[in-house]
Amino acid sequence: MGTASADIHPIPFFTQAGTFEELWPLISRQVGEVFDRGKFSHGRKVAEFEKAIGEYTGARHAIGVNSGTDALVLLLRAAGIGPGDEVVVPAFTFFASASAVTMARATPVFADITGDGDYALDPVSVEAAITDRTRAVLPVHLFSQMADMEALLDLARRRDLLVLEDSAEAIGMRWDGTHAGLLGTGGVLSFFPTKTLGALGDAGMILTDDDQVAERAGVLRHHGRLGKTIDHIAGISNLSGVSGTNSKMDDVQAAVLMAKLSLLDEEIRRRRVLADAYTERLRGTDGVLAVPRLVPRGVASAPVFYVYVIEVERRDELVAHLAGRGIGTETYYPQPLHTQPCYAGQHGRLSLPRAEEACRRTLALPLYPDLTEAQLDTVCAAISDFYAGRQR
Ligand SMILES: Cc1ncc(COP(=O)(O)O)c(C=O)c1O
Repeated sequence: MGTASADIHPIPFFTQAGTFEELWPLISRQVGEVFDRGKFSHGRKVAEFEKAIGEYTGARHAIGVNSGTDALVLLLRAAGIGPGDEVVVPAFTFFASASAVTMARATPVFADITGDGDYALDPVSVEAAITDRTRAVLPVHLFSQMADMEALLDLARRRDLLVLEDSAEAIGMRWDGTHAGLLGTGGVLSFFPTKTLGALGDAGMILTDDDQVAERAGVLRHHGRLGKTIDHIAGISNLSGVSGTNSKMDDVQAAVLMAKLSLLDEEIRRRRVLADAYTERLRGTDGVLAVPRLVPRGVASAPVFYVYVIEVERRDELVAHLAGRGIGTETYYPQPLHTQPCYAGQHGRLSLPRAEEACRRTLALPLYPDLTEAQLDTVCAAISDFYAGRQR
């Protein structure tokens, strides 16, 4: 966290110390049940958590896996995406949105984001990226609100494409009452520790209402295994119908997540209050080019602030200035995906200006339920000091 001196009280970018303190009795009871049963992977606690997420999101199937990245790869494969297929992905998102497509042995094709403030796929740019190999479009719901699902679903219907949602950041986000991940064929959740619902390590989930996709994903997460069979010659054997992987969820993670799920809606409300307070203080501040713009899309529901992202001038200098005052920040995402070394060679010089601009200007500020208003004031004061030239 840089050069914080003795009189500085560091404000980390992320901590969940307060949540853990509050929930400790519940967490230890949940984890205790796992120890008592002695099944630590893909056991009863995982099944309980899958059921609880099914109830929270309304998903017919919630399939626990090892990470949000694995959830994306397995969802793509279970939906039938594979070699020769193209999937349209936004250029401004976490790397895994595209690498999951590559790992499913298909090709990610990059499109630009809208200029509306949702940082999500622009339907016009998607349309331009479609070829006769395009099989699916992968909207990503970033930061606090969903992509324009009405337009993207309409486009997918017209062009006969699957819609697979990268809803890794989107727990609690809903579109006209339907939870993120359930508007198309399926979606995913990440429970990486910093997420709105975070575990003590990696964990993820596939959400789908499609029985066939769910069945395939369930098989793929466990080596493609069809179950134990007894063969007259070979004896007991495990048969794999497809080549799957080992991506099961740990029961200890499921136990922690079960406990934290009980606070989720309250924490989402707290995050919204803090986000509103940031916006009130930062709007109009010199050097701050944009505070979150919530796109009023008729039926879209209330925002869920996984992170609080602003756009600023001289972003990297501001990051250093804040670090010098003990304030942690993150840059989501500094490199557009079409310019990543592993993807830059697959197309000629592709220009996606809005994604490129977002990569240069966006900055995430500390936001978590136990952040205090006094800490928030300190962050805002440090930002205005920087642009007013008060660097110390
Ligand atoms: C948009 C997005 N997609 C995919 C992922 C991958 O999730 P995980 O880190 O659990 O693998 C993340 C989280 O980091 C994400 O934010």
